[in-house]
Amino acid sequence: MGSFARTGASGGIPVYQCNSTEEYHKGKLGSLGWELTVCNTLHPPDTPVRKFLVRSDSYGYLLHDHLKRFFPLEKIEKVIEIGGGYGYLMKDLLDRCGHFKACMLDISPVLLEKQKETLKGYDVSYRLEDAMETEPEVFGQYNLAVLNENLGDFPALVGLDSRVLARDPSTVHDPVIKKVLRFFETYGLDRPAVEHFNLNIGAMEMTEKLCLAGVPHIFIGEHSCEAKAPPALGPYINLMSDGNPRRITLKGHDEYTIKFSYLQKIAGYHGYETVRGPFADYLVPNLTEHLKAVLASRGLYSDNEEAVCHFISDLYEYEYLVLVKK
Ligand SMILES: C[S@@+](CC[C@H](N)C(=O)[O-])C[C@H]1O[C@@H](n2cnc3c(N)ncnc32)[C@H](O)[C@@H]1O
Repeated sequence: MGSFARTGASGGIPVYQCNSTEEYHKGKLGSLGWELTVCNTLHPPDTPVRKFLVRSDSYGYLLHDHLKRFFPLEKIEKVIEIGGGYGYLMKDLLDRCGHFKACMLDISPVLLEKQKETLKGYDVSYRLEDAMETEPEVFGQYNLAVLNENLGDFPALVGLDSRVLARDPSTVHDPVIKKVLRFFETYGLDRPAVEHFNLNIGAMEMTEKLCLAGVPHIFIGEHSCEAKAPPALGPYINLMSDGNPRRITLKGHDEYTIKFSYLQKIAGYHGYETVRGPFADYLVPNLTEHLKAVLASRGLYSDNEEAVCHFISDLYEYEYLVLVKK
């Protein structure tokens, strides 16, 4: 699905635009260097942010220890990671679970090569493809699917006119609007109380596809548009999340924060138990007086402190969803 705008029957005013990162990821992406994911931020053992956590460790090890509370990791064999970036998370998971047979699926040839370097010597297969186009049967072979910080890259509808939600599906010809109506109808999604809204249609389709394929264990982590700061941190961090997926402009492409409540409803409908929370549940910040002082300064006095403020805020702006098939 390339980026495009679709106008109403009367022409002129767009009913929605579609944001796609496909072209960027297939052809233009050279590295993730400028797009610092939480996982990559925590990767270097000497990164200054690790010491602000209760447990100073890598993202993958901390996530592994959280996941084992919900998933019987020792019994899980076949694992697929979609959009694995540099492969650091999978390397950590394989270090902890040497019995995993892993598959890395990625749309970016450059990143898939990088994953092959990181995961050299491990039992891993690779698929270069757009996960939106992967046949559901492929996913159905896996016991665990991991999607960390990538659903924001999947297609999003932007500036969708909320009046379309009142349309009778039998009178609608545009397949995208038909799909939107199907999602709202089938899953009983809350209707946004604004004239125009953004919709993570790709993330919703991906979640639905994994659920329909019957993958018994699924982990999703991404920037949320419904994040909340805990009361203790309210005075220090200011989260920009009003429930409408927000555009984040990055080098060469835009991504959108995720409306987790919709993904949770989709999974619930398909018979999954869901656990949802902020990344801070497993990347627990150590709220010392020193950290409070850094946060109170808003990182204005040094680049390092600015990075720490950004990181701590990310721990609450990013949410995760653990899905277990009942
Ligand atoms: C922001 S990076 C996150 C990388 C890694 N998971 C991390 O947390 O550091 C997004 C990843 O998703 C991949 N990606 C984006 N859209 C995709 C799609 N439609 N199908 C498969 N992979 C995709 C990108 O190539 C990249 O590897």
